[in-house]
Amino acid sequence: MKSTNVVQQSYKISRKDREKLLKQKALVLWFTGLSGSGKSTLADRVEQELFEQGYKTYLLDGDNIRHGLNSNIDFTEEGRRENIRRIGEVAKLFVDAGIIVLTAFISPFREDRERVRTLLAEGEFVEIHVDCPLEICEQRDVKGLYARARRGEIPNFTGISSPFEAPLQPEITVHTDRNDLETCVNQILSFTYNRIKP
Ligand code: ADX
Repeated sequence: MKSTNVVQQSYKISRKDREKLLKQKALVLWFTGLSGSGKSTLADRVEQELFEQGYKTYLLDGDNIRHGLNSNIDFTEEGRRENIRRIGEVAKLFVDAGIIVLTAFISPFREDRERVRTLLAEGEFVEIHVDCPLEICEQRDVKGLYARARRGEIPNFTGISSPFEAPLQPEITVHTDRNDLETCVNQILSFTYNRIKP
């Protein structure tokens, strides 16, 4: 059911005021890729570096958010769409708060990611394709989920029984199968620093 009879309110303290106080420009670093491609590991490392440089950050992680805010959402196409819609809105709120947001969700559908992009201003949505072949993710199988998906125990599993639509024009592509963690982290940081300095 849709909300009706609601009117937007405006407040005195603006995002610009908050960014000035925090000495940074806010944006979203949106990591997308298969399960096991390295999204969370990379986001974690990038956040640590930014934090050490004094930036105010927050990391939204698929597995964690699905334990709380999105615990009522499944992995059907519709479920994932709603998962990403909510995360897009949450990321937008954090950006309005002046925070540098890192999101680590498979976010397999192009249309859903593009919808999040349109919620934000030009340049504020940095799409990072964490590119790693399915075979490698499956070999890694950190959580043992690919093996279970192959046995038919997990329906709609991304890469096995549900598609992953790779970004067509991501701001950044990192290849976690060919490059080491440090290289990928530095690639992301060098893109990001120019954009978050006040
Ligand atoms: S998304 O597709 O809706 O963006 P999200 O990033 O929130 O997915 O959650 C993915 C995590 O949920 C995976 O890393 C994995 O641990 C777990 N998971 C459980 N079921 C599935 C499934 N059917 N497909 C993919 N990941 C799943």
